[in-house]
Amino acid sequence: MNILGIETSCDETAASLLEGRGDKIKVISNIVSSQIDIHKKYNGVVPEVAAREHVLNILPVINEAIGNIKPDAIAVATGPGLITSLMVGVETAKTLAYAWNLPVISVNHIEGHIYSCFIDNAAKIKFPAIFLTVSGGHTMIVLMKNHGELKIIGETVDDAAGEAFDKAAKLLGLGYPGGPLVSKEADKFSGGSGLEFPRPMLNKPNFDFSFSGLKTSLLYKVQKDKKWKKRISEYCFKYQEAIVDVLVKKTIKAAKKYDAKTVCLSGGVSANKTLRETLEKEAKKEKKTFIKPEFKYTTDNAAMVACAGYFNAKRNKYIPWQKLKANCNLDLK
Ligand code: KG4
Ligand code: ZN
Repeated sequence: MNILGIETSCDETAASLLEGRGDKIKVISNIVSSQIDIHKKYNGVVPEVAAREHVLNILPVINEAIGNIKPDAIAVATGPGLITSLMVGVETAKTLAYAWNLPVISVNHIEGHIYSCFIDNAAKIKFPAIFLTVSGGHTMIVLMKNHGELKIIGETVDDAAGEAFDKAAKLLGLGYPGGPLVSKEADKFSGGSGLEFPRPMLNKPNFDFSFSGLKTSLLYKVQKDKKWKKRISEYCFKYQEAIVDVLVKKTIKAAKKYDAKTVCLSGGVSANKTLRETLEKEAKKEKKTFIKPEFKYTTDNAAMVACAGYFNAKRNKYIPWQKLKANCNLDLK
């Protein structure tokens, strides 16, 4: 079956056509129109500007994604995200479903990130599986016992991991989005360092995270250091190390507690090389299968939404287009 996926949660207008047959997934197209260059000058995403750009881009992007193939169903990310951005994707999905008489599937954006792991690896993911899903808007550990049986077992109590990267980049004057820039600087550093960042909530007996203290710690360190501009790569290296350390240790602890067969990584921050390599190494030490998405499926895209839509469609989780609604606080089932 062919699914059209639509994604407009934040600052990427995306559409994808995906063909699913059993556990075999084929991404026919994956079109992403990024607004990064527009939001760069504001050092972050401006919701009003993002929504206006989505309105301009959504139909050309869908047109490019489907070519002359008519899909069998439409899957759309309905939340969480920026509400005015989400509304563009949702209203477009509704209109197309009405015009083409197609069934629709409402996809949680985070569920979409989780399903990015299934695109090339559906047959390899054995349940129970633990997903670390990390991006600019969320940081979560999710236990998946089967399709449709997802439970959040830990999440951030304040900033998301991607937000921690973005805020550090802003503070160090590197630009936006911060993750790739901090990581690029960190890669330049080698050798010893006297800098030490806190590992918030590492020893708490739960799977929650907190990253806002890390950013404050960076601010205080930089304020006290007259030579910080000459040590940017060292600051980035140690800051990234602290984030990765907490994410990996908590994920492995969760995998052990829930006896997970598979450990999966997803979300925009999963593009981080150090995080990918460290979690893979630690998961393998525990004899768990490790799955990560291809780079192009880490940051926001619609193939992940179409993939989640496909697995929901297999379980008949369609809703009438009249009930489709953008909802920024949508809970993961
Ligand atoms: O999933 P995503 O595209 O959007 C949200 O759902 O939020 O994630 C974007 C986030 C940004 O905070 C960005 O800085 C971060 O992912 N990111 C990275 C890297 N690439 C993107 N963080 C660390 N290292 C990277 N290489
Ligand atoms: Zn996302």
